[in-house]
Amino acid sequence: MKNLLFIVLGILIVSTGVVFALNNNAKVNADNHANKNVLVAYFSATGTTKRVAQNLAKATGGDLYEIKPVKAYTSADLNWHDENSRTSVEMNNPKLRPEIVTGDLSVENYDTIYLGFPIWWGTAPKVVHTFLEKYDFSGKKIIIFATSGSSELGNTANTLKQSVSKTATVIKGDVLNSNPPVEDLKQWVKKF
Ligand SMILES: Cc1cc2nc3c(=O)[nH]c(=O)nc-3n(C[C@H](O)[C@H](O)[C@H](O)COP(=O)(O)O)c2cc1C
Repeated sequence: MKNLLFIVLGILIVSTGVVFALNNNAKVNADNHANKNVLVAYFSATGTTKRVAQNLAKATGGDLYEIKPVKAYTSADLNWHDENSRTSVEMNNPKLRPEIVTGDLSVENYDTIYLGFPIWWGTAPKVVHTFLEKYDFSGKKIIIFATSGSSELGNTANTLKQSVSKTATVIKGDVLNSNPPVEDLKQWVKKF
C-alpha cells in the first residue's frame, strides 16, 4: 500500500514537471514568433542613433537594418554652419532624395517598423524619405524615434507620412537621447 502511494506520488511529480516545461516552451516560442515581425531600421551619420537602434533591436527581438546613403556623409557634409554644405543644400530642397543602398531588405516580412534617425534642421534627414519611398509600406505600422542635440520630433511624423502609402500608419515615438538601456526600451515599446 505504501509502495503504491510512492508510485502515484512519483507519477504526479513527473507529469507536473512535464506540463510546466511544455507550457514554458510554448511561451518562449510565442514570444520569438511575435518578434519576427519587427524591423528596426535606422539612419545614423555619426553613430548616436545607431547605438539606440541596436538596443531597440535587442529590446524588441526585431531585425536591425541600416539605411546607408550611397555616398557617406563627411564631416564637411554635416557642417550646418555652412549654408553650402551637402546637408544644408539637401535640407533646403524639399524634392531632393539622396540615393541609398538597396536590395537586401524584404519589407513584406515585417508588420511593425521602428524607424530611427538624427534630427536635422528640426526634422528627418532626406535619406529617410528616400527609404520610405523605395519600399512598399502599405498596411505597416511605422514608429519613429530620433536622437538630437535638443530638438523634439515636432511635426516629423506628419512630414514622413507624405512619403508612404495612405494605408501605412506613422506613429510619433520619441527623441531617445542619452542612449536608454535595453530594459528601459522594453518598457518604452509598450506605449505603441
Ligand atoms: C546637419 C545637421 C543638422 C542638425 N540639426 C539639428 C536640429 O535641428 N536640432 C537638434 O537638436 N540637433 C540637430 N543636429 C544634431 C543631431 O541631431 C544629433 O547630433 C544626433 O544625435 C546625431 O545622430 P547620429 O550620430 O545618429 O547621426 C543636427 C546635426 C546635423 C549634422
